[in-house]
Amino acid sequence: MSDRELAAAALSARLKAYVPYSHFQVGAALLAANGTVYSGCNIENAAYTPSNCAERTAFFKAVSEGVRDFSAIAIAGGAEGSKELDYCAPCGVCRQVMMEFCDCDTFRIILAKSEEDYRSFTLGELLPMGFGPKNLAK
Ligand code: THU
Repeated sequence: MSDRELAAAALSARLKAYVPYSHFQVGAALLAANGTVYSGCNIENAAYTPSNCAERTAFFKAVSEGVRDFSAIAIAGGAEGSKELDYCAPCGVCRQVMMEFCDCDTFRIILAKSEEDYRSFTLGELLPMGFGPKNLAK
């Protein structure tokens, strides 16, 4: 699975976003080490706080199916109906969820404006000095 293909999967997952409140659609495509791709979109709620980001939807789908090894996630986000997307970086809570399961130096976060236009970062670049499971190990 190439970065371009993962970016395309995130762009397509974005179209499934349920966003009646923010009208901001986000899609994610999470690549597991076994090659499976888990898609996710943001899912909002009338009570607001139960809303879930696209990235966590993808992670929770994978983990709930027993998958915990990941290599990359592509993210695409922007206002409903916008013709051109900007890079959409993951929120702090989603970075923390990535920190739980992913290696800071090797897990890659691909921010996609389009299939052709994307930038790749490591988790460590987007969450420097993050707190994770290793910090709790004795
Ligand atoms: N959102 C995501 O799904 N992922 C992000 O990385 C940033 C924000 C969602 C949450 C909410 O449904 C909407 O975008 C506006 O914040």
